[in-house]
Amino acid sequence: MKATAKAHTNIALIKYWGKRDESLILPTNNSLSLTLDGFYTKTTVEFREDLARDIFYLDEERISGVQYDRVRNFLDLIRNHADKKDLYAQVHSINEVPTAAGFASSASGFAALAAAGSRALGMQLSDQELSRLTRQGSGSACRSVYGGFAEWQQGVEADGSDSYAVPVAPADHWDIRVAAVVLSAKMKKVSSREGMKRTVDTSPFFRSWVNSIPADLEEIKQGITERDFDKVGHIAEANCLKMHATTLGARPPFTYWTDATMAVMQAVQALRANGIPAFFTIDAGPNVKVLYLPENEIEVEKALRNVPEVTDVILSRSGQGISYN
Ligand code: DP6
Repeated sequence: MKATAKAHTNIALIKYWGKRDESLILPTNNSLSLTLDGFYTKTTVEFREDLARDIFYLDEERISGVQYDRVRNFLDLIRNHADKKDLYAQVHSINEVPTAAGFASSASGFAALAAAGSRALGMQLSDQELSRLTRQGSGSACRSVYGGFAEWQQGVEADGSDSYAVPVAPADHWDIRVAAVVLSAKMKKVSSREGMKRTVDTSPFFRSWVNSIPADLEEIKQGITERDFDKVGHIAEANCLKMHATTLGARPPFTYWTDATMAVMQAVQALRANGIPAFFTIDAGPNVKVLYLPENEIEVEKALRNVPEVTDVILSRSGQGISYN
């Protein structure tokens, strides 16, 4: 009754921002991501007859509170699925991702938990089934089932049966790189869950954001197929700016950006002005991820480290989907 799985985090190039159903985690738009090999979670789940409740360790530390509740609720889903309602688990996760600083640690975390948990109970899920299950832990996590580029199809059904991710292109399709620029390892003030909800409920820009997605998706998928870096980069950067623009229209308004975020955005634009193709994208936190090509790695890393507010730059390649051992 024990299994271990490893899942990498992913960075959205077309963002998931808005839910149509909060408890099932159903989105208002399709999203598209690149899985990263530099950041992952490795999780072991062991279901044991002698346990009276679930136990969760993250990086060797016993976890309680909200984080524990999310894991327990997710294990309930797996238990229900396998018809093993009274069987509790010990979960050990090792996170190779700076937690809650816009690095989507919940993405690799829930993908690894879904994979290890379902295996531990003897379930043999297809990628599609696993992605659908993972989605209910954290939306963006459903894309981490796959390596390379993946698209989360929002679906139309009220029960979420057609809302899961599908592969777009494997990791070896294209050696595209991502620099994760670390500015602050502090916990974010407005979680993605809360920020998304406030935007849906109150921002007059939200509808236009949703309406703009299909064209962005079509173009970026064409860019990925053709390995057209300029096309992919420009669309990803513009899509990120549109997502963040919706937060300024919310009530109360908010932004994830800090002075340091903007300094990095300007450094990326300066790289482009000097003929080096590089593009930024930002999730629900201050940190910035920069897309670049292998031949420009040295210049890109140097330019980012030159920004005074930058504390670290972590270089990553396209990563693989879920693996077991
Ligand atoms: C800005 O997947 O963390 O990173 O579904 O509520 O758990 P929940 O939200 P989450 O949101 C991620 C939002 C984003 C964009 C993205 O990854 O697509």
